[in-house]
Amino acid sequence: MRTQSSNLSKPYSRTVKLTACAVGVAALLAAGVARSAEVEVLHYWTSGGEAKSAQVLKQMLDEKGDTWKDFAVAGGGGGNAMTALKTRVIAGNPPAAAQIKGPAIQEWGDEGVLVSIDDVAKHEGWDKLIPPQISSIMKYKGQYVAAPVNVHRVNWLWINADALKKVSAQPPATWDEFFKTADALQKAGIIPVAIGGQSWQEAETFETVALGVGGAAFYKKAFVQLDPATLKGPTMVKALETFKKIKAYTDKGQTGRDWNMATGMVITGKAAMQFMGDWAKGEFSVANKVPGKDYLCVPGPGSQNAYTFNVDSFAFFKVKSPDVQKGQKDLASLLLSPKFQEIFNLNKGSIPVRQGMDLSKFDACAHRSAADFTSSQARGTLVPSWAHDMVDTPAVEGAFYDVIGNYWSDDNETAQEAADKLAVAARTR
Ligand code: GAL
Repeated sequence: MRTQSSNLSKPYSRTVKLTACAVGVAALLAAGVARSAEVEVLHYWTSGGEAKSAQVLKQMLDEKGDTWKDFAVAGGGGGNAMTALKTRVIAGNPPAAAQIKGPAIQEWGDEGVLVSIDDVAKHEGWDKLIPPQISSIMKYKGQYVAAPVNVHRVNWLWINADALKKVSAQPPATWDEFFKTADALQKAGIIPVAIGGQSWQEAETFETVALGVGGAAFYKKAFVQLDPATLKGPTMVKALETFKKIKAYTDKGQTGRDWNMATGMVITGKAAMQFMGDWAKGEFSVANKVPGKDYLCVPGPGSQNAYTFNVDSFAFFKVKSPDVQKGQKDLASLLLSPKFQEIFNLNKGSIPVRQGMDLSKFDACAHRSAADFTSSQARGTLVPSWAHDMVDTPAVEGAFYDVIGNYWSDDNETAQEAADKLAVAARTR
């Protein structure tokens, strides 16, 4: 054998190998075995922590034998990404999957462009793995068309531990404590609150304030049931006033600032606190900061007993290529797998959406999030985040963004005027 092979001329040997390889591939194809698909995925995870999480997804899909085609559209909160998605779908060329959340999944379902992945979900028993409040969002007409990846808690306050020490304060549990601490920080020359002047960040901050001021029952009546009397009532006015009071503790350079830049200000100690969902933790982790030591995560003042949830998910679009269809199922199956759920969420700052996971590798903020999710669920204080697409149609949400954004920037508008506008905005359909 050895002699014979060494006598073969190089080109001949290459031909033999290629032919053998081609026969092998043909046999695999005929047997319907693992074909590689290029799976294009739209997402908006481009900050340090987010990009690291997206990389986990890419790598694990590639390990399955498929190829990840990145369709990343920068812009926190996903506004830009949704515009890009619309353009592609209208052109009849949707990506295989896109990061879409909440009621928007139903809207895309109504357009007839989503594909069912119910066979994967049934085979893997998703109904038993995902809390019912979340699985119902993922289904269109009773069939799964989207897969959830995580649970983010939105009503967090992130605090630089050294800054707090400098003013000898404890993490604020009430609004009175919050403003007292903010005064002390300001006197010490530290920007008390970091924020980016983008409407979704203002809306998110207001959402946390409203939950802390009014409680979960008020929050649901106002933002989930869109009750006009509650939207323009005295509790809403108080929430708006509290929200506006925060502005005096923010800096002048906020216009257009990205959320992760604001988190960066807390990481370096230029600012002391930020209201932000726990994707902020991804930024602290990338900067090698340790919770409990370098920074603290506490629920927004007054909202200790409640939990605002924001679940990221990928919806699947109708595509023609059978290879891509197979790739979509690979991706769907991957998203709920225990290994992906662990590694992805460790990077993203969220907790696994898959129930019954071992959380021993997760930090104290994640443990608190998981415990508070369960206790809020039992108490009836688990509420969806309207500022992060989990409640309203994009039209109502956009109208709320405008009201809150204008109120934040216009120092002449009264809280009652803004509250009245919220009640009007709720009628946008
Ligand atoms: C949210 C999204 C998070 C995070 C954040 C900032 O809407 O659910 O995953 O990416 O925006 O971009």
